[in-house]
Amino acid sequence: MRYYFTILPFAIFSATNGASLAGKPGNKAKVCTVEASGTNLTDDAPAIRSAFSRCNHGGNVVFNASTYYVNSVLNITGLENIKIDIQGKLLWSTDIQYWLNHSLPVGYQNQSTAFVLSGNNVRINGHGTGNLDGNGDYWYQWIKKQPNTSNYPGRPHQITFNGLTNSVIKGLSFFRSQMWTMSIINSHNSILEDILVNNTGNVVSSSNTDGANTMFSSNITMKNWTVYNGDDSIAIKANSTNISILDSKFYNGLGIAIGSIGQYFGRFETIQHLRVENIQYVNTLHAFYMKTWTADQNGYPPNGGGGGIGFAEDLYLKNLTVLGLRGAAFAISQCTRFSGAPGVGNCTNSQFQIRDVGIDGMEGTSTSSRVASLQCSAEKPCTDITLENVDLKLSNGSAADSYLCGNVVDAKGWDCTGKVCEGGSATGEC
Ligand SMILES: *[C@@H]1O[C@H](CO)[C@@H](O)[C@H](O)[C@H]1NC(C)=O
Ligand SMILES: *[C@@H]1O[C@H](CO)[C@@H](O)[C@H](O)[C@H]1NC(C)=O
Ligand SMILES: *[C@@H]1O[C@H](CO)[C@@H](O)[C@H](O)[C@H]1NC(C)=O
Ligand SMILES: *[C@@H]1O[C@H](CO)[C@@H](O)[C@H](O)[C@H]1NC(C)=O
Ligand SMILES: *[C@@H]1O[C@H](CO)[C@@H](O)[C@H](O)[C@H]1NC(C)=O
Ligand SMILES: *[C@@H]1O[C@H](CO)[C@@H](O)[C@H](O)[C@H]1NC(C)=O
Ligand SMILES: *[C@@H]1O[C@H](CO)[C@@H](O)[C@H](O)[C@H]1NC(C)=O
Ligand SMILES: *[C@@H]1O[C@H](CO)[C@@H](O)[C@H](O)[C@H]1NC(C)=O
Ligand SMILES: *[C@@H]1O[C@H](CO)[C@@H](O)[C@H](O)[C@H]1NC(C)=O
Ligand SMILES: *[C@@H]1O[C@H](CO)[C@@H](O)[C@H](O)[C@H]1NC(C)=O
Ligand SMILES: *[C@@H]1O[C@H](CO)[C@@H](O)[C@H](O)[C@H]1NC(C)=O
Ligand SMILES: *[C@@H]1O[C@H](CO)[C@@H](O)[C@H](O)[C@H]1NC(C)=O
Repeated sequence: MRYYFTILPFAIFSATNGASLAGKPGNKAKVCTVEASGTNLTDDAPAIRSAFSRCNHGGNVVFNASTYYVNSVLNITGLENIKIDIQGKLLWSTDIQYWLNHSLPVGYQNQSTAFVLSGNNVRINGHGTGNLDGNGDYWYQWIKKQPNTSNYPGRPHQITFNGLTNSVIKGLSFFRSQMWTMSIINSHNSILEDILVNNTGNVVSSSNTDGANTMFSSNITMKNWTVYNGDDSIAIKANSTNISILDSKFYNGLGIAIGSIGQYFGRFETIQHLRVENIQYVNTLHAFYMKTWTADQNGYPPNGGGGGIGFAEDLYLKNLTVLGLRGAAFAISQCTRFSGAPGVGNCTNSQFQIRDVGIDGMEGTSTSSRVASLQCSAEKPCTDITLENVDLKLSNGSAADSYLCGNVVDAKGWDCTGKVCEGGSATGEC
């Protein structure tokens, strides 16, 4: 690890005094360029940790156009006023047993992660070339051989922003995440823009490679994202409020998801004030779907659970363009249940309520005649569901015109055309 000092007109500062000068006006920030070992036999994580530690409080961490080999977990916390420029690649190691044993807890659903990053006023810029690469091709082949392919304990998210506030992540790409690309938890007032996620497997297709999941977070804007993946394009989970998803393109995944939620018995969780605008979908399953657990608890998270309470409300989507949707454009299933017991449980008893949800403006093509497939709880029916300015066509040119529903009250702008199927589902329809 070398130090790179910035020479100023009136001061040359060192690693020890640089931090104190960096915050002063007129002083250029201290720069810590992370040196790459150049071989995956040497772990670059210690050099990365050191750069963050030396350049915290006003400095600038630089990853130049090299490949940085990350062979051990990163837990970078307590950042304050720091600029991070990533020109090169951070490539995660292929030692699956190491990651299963060492990945860090995320703090929800027994999920875990390879990289925790937290702090205030953190500005990460990938300048369109910087990228994080999970080496996921190894994981996608491995998970297919496991008995539990969904939420395997210890399979890590590529990065977790935990307690990130007043921050900007920009111009960064994420390739072949080990599992979910990112989790955003306990984070507020931050923007992630000009983001490319490409989890398309080179050997086998990827699974459970969500673009992002938000939890216990507020005022998060995701703008100009492009996501190629094999699960939820973006998922909004427990206690997410004021989340915006703007000007983005989603390929091949399941579309924007709400949930799953209601997985923790007796726990009160909400999702409120979602805004989605100007989105293009290509070959996704849905444009928008919501999934809640039933009132019956079967097992524990991540793959079991149920019996949660709360509500999702004030979720509005505008100006959606779809190409070749594979399922209902808008789907609700309140019958998510223990993966090991698909036949057990009641699909209409969820205590989690869905209300005040709308789509204004959705056009394009679908292979499904279902505009809507809304399977709601009889105990807590879905209310105030609006669908307007919808123009979806099948490949033969005729309109997609099926609106299936169960336990929907106050439909606005549409009429139910038939009864929805009731059955266990993790992806919105049965
Ligand atoms: C990255 O920085 C290191 C250390 O300064 C230098 O040796 C290397 O040549 C740089 N690589 C690139 C691609 O800029
Ligand atoms: C190092 O790179 C080689 C070649 O790409 C790869 O086969 C090996 O699995 C990598 N090892 C680690 C620990 O990432
Ligand atoms: C992971 O843990 C297992 C079981 O404790 C152990 O056998 C294995 O050596 C560990 N592997 C690594 C790479 O830490
Ligand atoms: C990360 O480090 C912080 C600060 O030392 C610590 O409080 C936290 O428990 C660590 N997180 C994980 C997931 O290990
Ligand atoms: C939760 O994760 C831990 C560590 O990865 C694992 O040992 C445990 O079996 C997991 N629990 C469940 C219910 O999956
Ligand atoms: C939301 O976050 C942005 C920064 O991303 C900030 O400018 C704005 O003031 C925040 N809004 C509220 C209501 O806190
Ligand atoms: C959107 O993000 C992509 C990177 O994924 C970038 O190339 C493009 O310039 C961005 N578009 C705008 C309008 O900033
Ligand atoms: C995504 O990755 C796949 C597999 O490597 C590749 O074929 C494709 O060109 C990539 N797409 C983009 C937009 O990067
Ligand atoms: C989630 O939000 C609800 C209110 O909307 C609150 O009652 C609950 O305590 C929050 N849960 C956590 C773990 O913060
Ligand atoms: C709708 O979204 C598309 C991108 O998907 C954009 O080109 C168009 O300008 C948007 N229309 C309006 C009225 O914002
Ligand atoms: C896999 O799932 C089964 C139930 O479906 C469970 O009994 C087993 O403990 C799980 N194994 C792991 C490693 O999570
Ligand atoms: C399922 O729950 C609903 C709502 O509580 C109830 O009306 C119905 O009888 C239950 N069905 C069965 C098969 O228990």
